[in-house]
Amino acid sequence: MVLLRSHLPTLLVLLLSSIFSFSNSASIEENFIQCLSFYSDKAPPFSSSIVTPKNDSFTNVLDSSAQNLRLLVPSAPKPEFIFTPLNESHVQVAVICSKKLGIHMRVRSGGHDYEGLSYVSEIETPFIIIDLAKLRAVEVDIQDSSAWVQAGATVGEAYYRISEKSPTLEQDATKIVQRWQEVAPNIDEELFMRVIIQPASTANKTERTISTSYNALFLGDADTLLQVMQQKFPELGLTKNDCLETSWIKSVLYIAGFPKDTPPEVLLQGKSTFKNYFKAKSDFVRDPIPETGLEGLWQRLLEEDSPLMIWNPYGGMMNSFSDSDSPFPHRNGTLYKIQYLTLWQDGDKNATKHIEWIRKLYNYMTPYVSKFPREAYVNYRDLDLGMNKKNSTSYIQATAWGNMYFKDNFNRLVKIKTKFDPENVFRHEQSIPPLPVSRLKDRKCNKWG
Ligand SMILES: *[C@@H]1O[C@H](CO)[C@@H](O)[C@H](O)[C@H]1NC(C)=O
Ligand SMILES: *[C@@H]1O[C@H](CO)[C@@H](O)[C@H](O)[C@H]1NC(C)=O
Ligand SMILES: *[C@@H]1O[C@H](CO)[C@@H](O)[C@H](O)[C@H]1NC(C)=O
Ligand SMILES: *[C@@H]1O[C@H](CO)[C@@H](O)[C@H](O)[C@H]1NC(C)=O
Ligand SMILES: *[C@@H]1O[C@H](CO)[C@@H](O)[C@H](O)[C@H]1NC(C)=O
Ligand SMILES: *[C@@H]1O[C@H](CO)[C@@H](O)[C@H](O)[C@H]1NC(C)=O
Repeated sequence: MVLLRSHLPTLLVLLLSSIFSFSNSASIEENFIQCLSFYSDKAPPFSSSIVTPKNDSFTNVLDSSAQNLRLLVPSAPKPEFIFTPLNESHVQVAVICSKKLGIHMRVRSGGHDYEGLSYVSEIETPFIIIDLAKLRAVEVDIQDSSAWVQAGATVGEAYYRISEKSPTLEQDATKIVQRWQEVAPNIDEELFMRVIIQPASTANKTERTISTSYNALFLGDADTLLQVMQQKFPELGLTKNDCLETSWIKSVLYIAGFPKDTPPEVLLQGKSTFKNYFKAKSDFVRDPIPETGLEGLWQRLLEEDSPLMIWNPYGGMMNSFSDSDSPFPHRNGTLYKIQYLTLWQDGDKNATKHIEWIRKLYNYMTPYVSKFPREAYVNYRDLDLGMNKKNSTSYIQATAWGNMYFKDNFNRLVKIKTKFDPENVFRHEQSIPPLPVSRLKDRKCNKWG
């Protein structure tokens, strides 16, 4: 009896896996639906949660949360189908079924995804998308200052729910930018002041020049901000007319670039409002860039059609965590983060030219930014930093981008990956690789079997 009981779990697993078998003649989709039903307690009508290229809604669903039109062009690889789970248990069965059926999956939530890794697989076909769009609950607990946000929600939805407090100004001059680099990270815990840099036409419209817009959020009133600025950054020349006193949630809309008077409810649509063809890259700056470096940068920006840079100051709360407290390592000593963008309108026709331009700019910036490693922001994902090959990963290869995105935390992430996903079910062009575990497995076999 004892013997039987101890073998029961193994028997059950064996039975389960032998009962579910899929047909070679049926489509991937049919097999998947069958598998979902098999592994669910109940059998909901899964077919209504699946869209294939044959459904009229396919393009809408595929495009819905995508921000980069470059990855939606007809020649971009398309999924066999998109499965939109209605609850967590459906996510679990979807993962089990992708694994059972050997279909590569991509998991999509609501945000940036600059290289489209959640809806395009360049390295493996066929593939499917598990879209978390229906899993977007946000629960805010004001008492303990915490919020639980489901993976499908956008940061706008989270902000909206948290909100139930921004000023602006404009100037242009290399000297002010140079001063900003030293002032912005340390100016005041309540002040976030970023710079947006792009070409603009001159008053006579015959030439282009570089425009630097300072765009800030201050948690406090305009008079207090004017005092802070007068004392610490008088060069910018802020006046009360440049300030707008508003609620925090409206400042979120302002910073996000929505037109004036857009109601905050727009954040609840959970849609990407800004869709463009673009390529982006990132850097972190630890020492102010000298004036000569800035001037060379302006020259390069003027050579491109629609480039854009956003410089976000660090310091403040960002420095109050150590590099190893969370996977995000760009902490103490970071002055600011640079986002480089180039945007275009004409589809994939001149994409190569724009991409070549931004790569050259990135090379130009090498002496001025963080080194050993040159740090990069994972949320501005950049496949130029390296890619996993096909369905296999190599630790050595992945250190190329892993160290840039995560610094010393990369090795910890590899350990966690090896422990929880040794078979590398969750993988994409820049996923964390597991270490090979075959030797470990052999040892286990010797012990138990
Ligand atoms: C897609 O088409 C199939 C077959 O016509 C249908 O059963 C399914 O409900 C459709 N999916 C959606 C989300 O409308
Ligand atoms: C969510 O999952 C549970 C457990 O499988 C199930 O009972 C419930 O009906 C599901 N809800 C929906 C909306 O499908
Ligand atoms: C246009 O303005 C720029 C500076 O604003 C000046 O350098 C340039 O000479 C002007 N061009 C003409 C044709 O007036
Ligand atoms: C940040 O770095 C500076 C200089 O490198 C050091 O003096 C300071 O103690 C560090 N602060 C924290 C919180 O690690
Ligand atoms: C963009 O592409 C079109 C079509 O290939 C080409 O005619 C045009 O010269 C390109 N524009 C630029 C600025 O390279
Ligand atoms: C990777 O792909 C090859 C060829 O498609 C296949 O033989 C192999 O089993 C795959 N490996 C994994 C881990 O899926």
